[in-house]
Amino acid sequence: MSHAEDHPSTRRDFLYYATGGMGAVAAGAAVWPLVNQMNPSADVQAASTQRVDVSSLEPGSQLTVLFLGKPIFIRRRTAEEIEAGRAVDLGDLVDGNARNPNIDATASAADENRTLADFSGENTGEWLVMWGVCTHLGCVPLGDGAGDFGGWFCPCHGSHYDTAGRIRRGPAPENLPVPDASFVDETTILLG
Ligand code: FES
Repeated sequence: MSHAEDHPSTRRDFLYYATGGMGAVAAGAAVWPLVNQMNPSADVQAASTQRVDVSSLEPGSQLTVLFLGKPIFIRRRTAEEIEAGRAVDLGDLVDGNARNPNIDATASAADENRTLADFSGENTGEWLVMWGVCTHLGCVPLGDGAGDFGGWFCPCHGSHYDTAGRIRRGPAPENLPVPDASFVDETTILLG
């Protein structure tokens, strides 16, 4: 297993997103394969895991790592972001499913069903881990509070995601999917 930060292309990607501006727009415009075609088969996924050190993430910051060739957003949310996500009326959501393979497949898209429990097993709502691939046509959304709902924005065709990565406006049909993920110690997330 290699740490994400040891991978040179991951480091470049992270800087790419972090710097914003034209670079970020170009990244957002990069079309990735359709979501329903991109999910690797179960056997590939079972053999593929990746550890990510999140010890440097402060509340309000985000890390983008490549996993199975696709970006994963790991955000440590602020209290305000958590509050905003939890205040949403579920009836206002475009996609009512959590899209979270770590819990029941029928779970609602309530904010607490989107976030990851920490190593102690407590789900404070702080940790949000998602595939960074727009569910419309596969662009990489812009983050760090982008869009009209304080979460992510996909500039390709104008999809707005909220602070829990749920689609709120625009052509994307589904919430940003959560990958298989768990904390394996206090500062390490295991993907896959
Ligand atoms: Fe994101 Fe079309 S690919 S809105």
